[in-house]
Formats: sequence, C-alpha cells, structure tokens
Amino acid sequence: MKKALSLLTVSAMAVSMLAGCGSSNTAATTAAATTAAATEAAAPAETTAAATEAAAAATEAATEAAAEAGSADLADKKVGVCIYQFSDNFMTLFRNELQSYLESLGFKPENISIVDGANDQATQTNQIQNFITSGVDVLIINPVNSSSAATITDMVTEANIPLVYINREPDAQEEERWKTENMNVTYVGCDARQSGTMQGEIVLDLENKGDINGDGKVSYIMIEGDPENVDAQYRTEFSVKALTDAGVEVECLDDQVGNWDQAQAQSLVANSLAQHGKDIEVVFCNNDAMALGALQAIEAAGETVGTDVYLLGVDALQEACDNVKSGKQTGTVFNDHISQSHSAADAAVRYLTGEGNEHYIGCDYVKVTTANVDDILASLG
Ligand code: BGC
Repeated sequence: MKKALSLLTVSAMAVSMLAGCGSSNTAATTAAATTAAATEAAAPAETTAAATEAAAAATEAATEAAAEAGSADLADKKVGVCIYQFSDNFMTLFRNELQSYLESLGFKPENISIVDGANDQATQTNQIQNFITSGVDVLIINPVNSSSAATITDMVTEANIPLVYINREPDAQEEERWKTENMNVTYVGCDARQSGTMQGEIVLDLENKGDINGDGKVSYIMIEGDPENVDAQYRTEFSVKALTDAGVEVECLDDQVGNWDQAQAQSLVANSLAQHGKDIEVVFCNNDAMALGALQAIEAAGETVGTDVYLLGVDALQEACDNVKSGKQTGTVFNDHISQSHSAADAAVRYLTGEGNEHYIGCDYVKVTTANVDDILASLG
C-alpha cells in the first residue's frame, strides 16, 4: 500500500473531516455516552485530581471501544467492487491500491470481491445484481457507462446497500437526486476540468508557449478517451481553453477518439503525423496510456518530443513519468489513484459505521513536469 503525497493527504483529510454526520455505531455511541456521563459526574468536583482521572479513563475506554467496534465490524463486512475494465492501466493501479488499503483497514481478503466489467454495461449490471443477491454490505462502483448511473443507483439503494461511485462521475442531475432523496450514495473523484487546464498551463509555461514554428498560433491534435466519459469531455475542452483564455491562438488539426487505449492512440497519431507532419506542434492526449502510444508514433515518424512537437498526458503512470524525466514527454498530470482509492474505502467504512458521507468527495490533480517529476516518482514508490 502506498502513501499519498503529504499535500494530498492533508486535502483528503480535510475532505474526510468535512464529510459525515448522523449516528455512529452502537458500541461507539455507548462508549461516548459513558465518557459524557463520567465528565458530568466529575463536574461538581472538577478541581479534584480524581475527577480528572475518571474522565480521562472514560475517554480512553471510549476510544478503545470505538476502535474495537470498528475493526470487529469490518472483519465481517463484505465489500463488492465493480471496475469498468481490468485492462485499463490507470484503473489497475487504482484497484490494486484499493484492495490493499481495504485490507489494511481490517476487511478480510475473502470478503473483498473485485470484478471486471470488461467494458460492457450489461456484464457489469449482472455483476451488481449478483453482489446484491449475495448480500454484500457496501458497493464501490466504477461504472462502464456513467449514463447508467441512475439505473445502478436504483438497483443498489432499493436493496438498502450503500454505494460509492469512483472515477466515472455521474451527471449533476443524478448527484442532485442522492441529496434530495437522502440516499447513501456518494462520488469520489477529481474534477477533470482541473486536469485539462493543467495540461494547457504546462504548454503556456514553455518559453514559446507551444508555438514551435513561430507562426503565431499553436497547431495541435487531440486524442480523446471514451467520449461518454466526462473526464474525456472536460480534458478535451479545458486543455485548449487554458490556451485561448491566455490569449493564445490555436488551430485544431485533428481530433480523434482513442478510447484511453495505447494501441489505438499509436495508430491515430501515426495517421495524423502522416497527414500533417511537422505542422503538429502539440499532441494532447486525455491520458498517459494514449500518450505512450503517441510517443511510439512520434518516434517512428523520426520526430523528437521537445524540439519537433510537445506531448501531454494525464495520470502520471510510472512509464510516462520516466518519459517526462528523460524529455520524451513534455508533461503529465497526476491523477492521484492513491488518495482516491483511500477516500473511496474510507467513505465505504463511514457508511458501514453509520457515520455517512457527503455526496461528493473531491481530490486535487497535480501538474507534472521535469521540475517535480522526481517527487511524483518517489510518491508512486
Ligand atoms: C484516467 C484514464 C482511465 C479512465 C477510466 C481516467 O480518469 O485518466 O487513464 O482510462 O479514467 O475511466
């Protein structure tokens, strides 16, 4: 299990401190009541050491009881996790971290079940139904189609199972419903607009602001993830918006869908390079897997990142960070799978203890360039 960057840990802690209200579990409540009673009983004699000691002892007992209640409960709890597709590089990092963090919290490995939706919503819907039938206590779901969220939410909440969505954010109307209908449903993830903006800012920070050939505009190609996914939509829009907001003129030479996939991106970028050659100054990829594919195409075309073209991704995969370090990728944006998986597991626990959650639990992206890539690589372990 990895440790989050300290900055991000602090922001995750701030979120978890904000999150949650309502009743706690029985043992913890009882223990807390004992503390209150001891403090009250001690009040008239507050100057005596005995009273202070009694209150302190009760506080300690309350903390211990709460901790015991928590871990005893979790060891018996079953958690079902649905991942949209196991072969996705980023979601592989996410799910491995989620598994080890859940175990560290006290869930038994045999009570953690993680399944592969194989990028097919019908398959995933069946898996959710099976989890409901088997009586899981909480579900963590990375939907295949975000647009299926309303159906999934209904299935799961009708079975009285709390639900934590991860990575693929349902739309605003769906999230609003969780609030108005007071559902035990939350979303844990980052705001993809921020990652797009950061990609654009990395270009703006270059000495020539991305205008390699000095013709007064930045000519780019965009390689998109699955367009059904809000991460793809926002990254596509906000990377370019950062440039235009800063007064930089842009020209889109090509915009293609690579479905988050390295091989698809490689062939798309190869085609684009064959058509536009050195006119392409910036290659924006919605994720690093596709940036790795783009790099293969760029190198095969005999071009060099940093002099002929700039290359941007998102995620901070280890390999992409190595490329940033050696100059083969201009930059990336850390999509903090460590903080997100921990927050998702913590949210699941807060449902199990009855503490509850806010309906949105956020996380920050981090820009990655040669300036900080060593820190990011260190935090990835
Ligand atoms: C990541 C992609 C990943 C996608 C899956 C995005 O947030 O950046 O790498 O393929 O999530 O939904």
